[in-house]
Amino acid sequence: MPTAFIQINNLHRKYCEGEQDFSVLKGADMSIQCGETVALLGRSGSGKSTLLNLISGIDHPDSGSVSVNDIELTGLSEQQRTLFRRQHIGFVYQFFNLIPTLTAAENIALILELNNYSARKIKQRVSHLLNEVGLEQRGNSFPDQLSGGEQQRVAIARALAHEPTLVLADEPTGNLDAEMGLRVLALLRQLVVANKGTLILVTHSLAVAKTADRILTLDDGKLAERVGDFAW
Ligand SMILES: Nc1ncnc2c1ncn2[C@@H]1O[C@H](COP(=O)(O)OP(=O)(O)OP(=O)(O)O)[C@@H](O)[C@H]1O
Ligand SMILES: [Mg+2]
Repeated sequence: MPTAFIQINNLHRKYCEGEQDFSVLKGADMSIQCGETVALLGRSGSGKSTLLNLISGIDHPDSGSVSVNDIELTGLSEQQRTLFRRQHIGFVYQFFNLIPTLTAAENIALILELNNYSARKIKQRVSHLLNEVGLEQRGNSFPDQLSGGEQQRVAIARALAHEPTLVLADEPTGNLDAEMGLRVLALLRQLVVANKGTLILVTHSLAVAKTADRILTLDDGKLAERVGDFAW
C-alpha cells in the first residue's frame, strides 16, 4: 500500500516544567493524502502548534515518527531538517511574523534567496505573487504600513513563494475580522490548490474548519477524525 503524503505514528512530545514532565502529545496518529486540505481543531493548549512544529521539523518528538513525502524527519539531522523546511514547507502564522525591517517584496524574496533562485527569477516570482494576493501596488511598503489583512496576504505570498508541497497555517485568520478572515482563507486555499499543495489549517473556528476537506481534532494528546456536529 502506498504511504500517505504525511504519515504520523504514535507521536509523543512532553515538556519539562521544573521537576515535572508535562505530556502534550500522547500517541498521536494521522495520515494525510497529497492535495488534501485538513483543518485541525482543538482547545487552547491542546498541542496544535506543537504538532505543526513537529511536522515542519522545527521540533523533534520524544518518540514516534513523522514522514512527509516519504522523508522520515526523525531520521534527519537538524541541518537536514532546516533544508527540508526551506525547500518543502510554507508556514503562515497567526500574527503574520513578517520581518519589520524588510518591505513586502523583500519579505517574499527572502525564502527564494535562501533557496538560491536567480535575481531575475526572484523578481518575476515576487511580482507574480504580489499580483496573486492583490498587492501589486504595495511591494515597497513595510509591514507597519499595511493593514492586518494586507500583512496576512503578504505572509501567504511568502509562504507559497518557493512552491512548497506542504503549507502549514497556524490560525492564519485568528487576528483578522470574520469577513477578512474568510477572504484571506479562500485566497490561501485557492493558491495552495492551484499549486497542487497540501494544507493543514489550525483554527478555533468551526466555520473555518468546515471549509476544509476533512477535520481532525486534537484532544488529550491524540488525534481523531471529527464525526458529528459539535461546537468548540
Ligand atoms: N517550549 C515549551 N515549553 C514548555 N511548555 C510548552 C512549550 N511549548 C508549548 N508548551 C505547552 O504545551 C501545551 C501545548 O502548547 P501548544 O502551543 O502546542 O498549544 P495550542 O493547541 O497551539 O494552543 P493555542 O490554541 O492556544 O495556540 C501548552 O500547555 C503549552 O503551555
Ligand atoms: Mg497554537
